[in-house]
Amino acid sequence: MAQPGKTVRPKNVSTAIPVGGWLNRFHCGNATDVVKMMPAAIVDTVVTSPPYFQQRDYGSDLQIGQEKSIDRYVQNMADLFVEIKRVVKPTGSLWMVIGDKYIKGELQGVPWRVCLALKEIGWHLRSDCIWHKPNAMPSSVKTRPTTDHEYIFFFSNAKDYFYDADAIREPHVTFSEKSKMKGGRNHFGKRGGTPEAGKNSGDNNLHDGRWDQAFHPKGRNKRTVWSIPLSKFREAHFAVYPQQLVENCIKASCPAKGVVLDPFSGAGTTALVAREMERDYIGIDCNPEFCKMAEARLEKARRLF
Ligand SMILES: C[S@@+](CC[C@H](N)C(=O)[O-])C[C@H]1O[C@@H](n2cnc3c(N)ncnc32)[C@H](O)[C@@H]1O
Repeated sequence: MAQPGKTVRPKNVSTAIPVGGWLNRFHCGNATDVVKMMPAAIVDTVVTSPPYFQQRDYGSDLQIGQEKSIDRYVQNMADLFVEIKRVVKPTGSLWMVIGDKYIKGELQGVPWRVCLALKEIGWHLRSDCIWHKPNAMPSSVKTRPTTDHEYIFFFSNAKDYFYDADAIREPHVTFSEKSKMKGGRNHFGKRGGTPEAGKNSGDNNLHDGRWDQAFHPKGRNKRTVWSIPLSKFREAHFAVYPQQLVENCIKASCPAKGVVLDPFSGAGTTALVAREMERDYIGIDCNPEFCKMAEARLEKARRLF
């Protein structure tokens, strides 16, 4: 069992399979057991969406998500992510997309319970992004707002970590036509002013922030609300996450030719995007049918790469 506050080195770790043997394949089995077999520090970033608590039956005795209690679910997740911490490089990171659960009309806070458990085992929480789904299913609830978001938690393995902010910058809006803050550089004190020579010229914090927000040539720093429509992969009977979401995570956190791990690979969306972006992937799923489906999906795409 995971011990709060420290990373547990798994016993009986086998590194019999060389690193190359792990790459660009889907490994079938219980993620915790499979990750225990992997060599240490080979992964740059993990991008994954675990099974949500009591949401869907993935047809395997090994699956996580069908536990009787949230505590047991959280513990199983912590046990897995202790192992994952070992195989992620010290500069590496983890993106986890996770949704919540209502029981008798009460929201359970499952994403945050998992998140806090991961912090306990040594992951550093860097961001709680919101995946806003503009095409979320309507619902008949009348006693609360309709949910149209999930969390995307971003963790680093250690204090210092690889993060390429420039790779995921977004278009400026501050001084756009639609913005209330019209006036462009005039905002900095006088027409034609700049952050360096404006009315707030002594305040570095304001300057750096405004420069980034308004003038950085590659756009403003990525915001924490990501509005991305749900997408479909017809052959999967479960929800796959959008390629655009995975793309953001990989761009920001996986250096060129790095390795991306998805321990709940399902239909292989993470792997597909990783290959399109010329990164290596390691996929794991407990359902052999899903591993086959993901492999076929990658094979089909490979012909197009
Ligand atoms: C939410 S789906 C992932 C979908 C994936 N993100 C995609 O876009 O295709 C979760 C997956 O986790 C797998 N899974 C559940 N428990 C597992 C376990 N203990 N070890 C490995 N895979 C598991 C399920 O079979 C399922 O395919």
